[in-house]
Amino acid sequence: MREKEAVIMKKLVVLTGAGMSAESGISTFRDSGGLWDKYPVEKVATPEGFNANPELVLNFYNVRRRELLATKPNAGHYGLAEMEKDFEVSIITQNIDNLHEQAGSTSVIHLHGELMKSRSTAYESLVYDIDPENCDINLGDKCEMGYQLRPHIVWFGEMVPMIPVAEAIVRKADIFVIIGTSMNVYPAAGLLNDVKRNVPVYLIDPKDVSTGRHDIHHIKTGASEGVKELRRLLARHN
Ligand code: APR
Repeated sequence: MREKEAVIMKKLVVLTGAGMSAESGISTFRDSGGLWDKYPVEKVATPEGFNANPELVLNFYNVRRRELLATKPNAGHYGLAEMEKDFEVSIITQNIDNLHEQAGSTSVIHLHGELMKSRSTAYESLVYDIDPENCDINLGDKCEMGYQLRPHIVWFGEMVPMIPVAEAIVRKADIFVIIGTSMNVYPAAGLLNDVKRNVPVYLIDPKDVSTGRHDIHHIKTGASEGVKELRRLLARHN
């Protein structure tokens, strides 16, 4: 008789942004023609904007939700999900879509909320799954306590409740990967500072991204091709 050998897998922590889902057809924010070129961010992604014109904000996210329902994960999402065979993978995403989950990733933290959930404007803990068949949030849609529902999104100027959880995960990373984020928005971009010294850091992005570090291995391609290359490079790490 022999005890089963415990296989200890390396912890791969992946921070993703809008570029992760670009090849699925979802717009990024800051590329030219991105969402913030078309919509004034202060009107559609701040509590002040919501108070001033809730209908405009609800509609902005209703359109995003319908777009999401018409898309699929891309090869990058699927590649990360497959890496769970070889690594303990934790994904920390700034994206509000659920494409990582759809691709099969089992550990996904959403820093900026989730498009397919609504929540009460009065009680933060009252969060509801949105039915894909009836996916709009409209003025007059209420929580069980009788208050207007809003998208379950972290807007600019709001707290990022998942950041302490994300920081704790990043501190334990054996390998850290950044995919498709311009690293402009804090506290998400600050997670790079929580990576331990000597932990290898990879960046997948077709453009240069300013990180303040010069020891990052930049895979300068889109997410699908980049994840494939990452898997080749990491084959010797597990
Ligand atoms: N594959 C990988 N990266 C890509 C691709 C692609 N196919 N296409 C574009 N990118 C890169 C861009 O080069 C850019 O560096 O994705 C990044 C997108 O950056 P942003 O549009 O700034 O998106 P993100 O960093 O996720 O924004 C952070 O800001 O507006 C808020 O809450 C919103 O979560 C969002 C946050």
